[in-house]
Amino acid sequence: MELTRLTGFQDLIGQPARTLAYVEERARALMERYAVGEIRIPLLERIELYQRSTGETSDIVSKQMYTFTDRDEAGTTLALRPEGTPGVVRAYVEAGLDRSDPEQRLFYSGPMFRRERPQKGRYRQFHQFGVEVFGRADPACDAELLVMIDDLRRDLGLSFQFEINSLGDAKCRPAFRAALLDYGRAHYAELCDDCHERLERNPLRMLDCKIDVKLAAAAPKSLDFLCPECRQHFDTVVALLSSAGVEFIINPRIVRGLDYYMRTAFEVTSTNLGSQNAVVAGGRYDGLVEVLGGSDIPGIGFAIGMERMALALEAAQKPREGLVRVALIALGEPAARRATQLARELRGLPMQVELLSTERSLKSQLKRADRIGANYAVIIGADELARDAAQLRDLGASAQREVRLTDLAAELYPARCD
Ligand code: HAM
Repeated sequence: MELTRLTGFQDLIGQPARTLAYVEERARALMERYAVGEIRIPLLERIELYQRSTGETSDIVSKQMYTFTDRDEAGTTLALRPEGTPGVVRAYVEAGLDRSDPEQRLFYSGPMFRRERPQKGRYRQFHQFGVEVFGRADPACDAELLVMIDDLRRDLGLSFQFEINSLGDAKCRPAFRAALLDYGRAHYAELCDDCHERLERNPLRMLDCKIDVKLAAAAPKSLDFLCPECRQHFDTVVALLSSAGVEFIINPRIVRGLDYYMRTAFEVTSTNLGSQNAVVAGGRYDGLVEVLGGSDIPGIGFAIGMERMALALEAAQKPREGLVRVALIALGEPAARRATQLARELRGLPMQVELLSTERSLKSQLKRADRIGANYAVIIGADELARDAAQLRDLGASAQREVRLTDLAAELYPARCD
């Protein structure tokens, strides 16, 4: 047995990890501005949590969860979280917030686990940054979440397609479901094997089929079955998005693969990601809080697929603002002492400073400076130290000159870097 990583799991070393962290930093900064607070929840939950919320017929629960039996006497079955929403709702109810302080805006960030067939953009451990809002049934909240995603997109300099739909509610969905069932039965011979199963278990999922695309396109649409309240809600969301300047399309095929959605459902896709192009997805889930033992409190949210967002960022090759990178080279013990102080001062500016090994030759230190992509090398030898100066080498321009140490910060900062 070789000790390699598991299929569908990733090691991120250096830059890829940095890109993921960068997306998270930007998303966290946005949460400040939108007054969304953080929630941290466990990675393990009882399996029943997902069975009751995500749904027994969903692919996630029926095929993709990592589950195991705990060592307790009851032999509790646990599941590694495949998504964040059920855990957040459980925590919200368990903390009694549905009664004491129902209006909550929360975000979470962390790994999720689904045993899917791995491919580019689809992993068995991936990261989501999710937002859940409780206690808001009004369409302005639906629109606000979409504007939030659009703000993040803009901040990252990306272009996405926003697709929205309404799935109706408990009042109008049964008629839609019945119409889909009739349609599926009428075209039974043309349906793929998976859709035969979907037809009986959850006919809405037929619309998601990647094989029967034409049949799905001609199928009944939830928008044609909306009751007046759901229609009004959807029309208001559409109007608010338009006035906020979010570009979107209405896609009646967005049904989402999870059971708890009602009314607004959406997906945000990127054109340069191949088949796994959904970067963000979410929707409204009024009723879920009650299903998980709480009061009748509405909810809505979304989750960003962080790896996909990072891939989109890399594909767009957006130059990111970073700190000026300085390789500090000290030759000899006394110079090293001064360089240690200097590194600290420069980092405070802020600036990225790597103090190179003092035990290597100047030549090998300059090689290292190139290797780490430093913008500047600052070289302090015994002579420079005596003059309280350093050689400042611009590694891009291959130019070098002597500067006084007291002027160094002003020379380097603010400086251009790419
Ligand atoms: P979801 O559509 O299952 O929704 O996942 C949301 C996003 O997570 C996807 O659009 C995708 O970017 C990313 N994602 C999902 N599976 C994988 C995977 N195997 N590998 C890489 N990325 C993946 C939810 O999870 C809902 N909890 C979203 C939500 C929050 N709805 C309401 N609130």
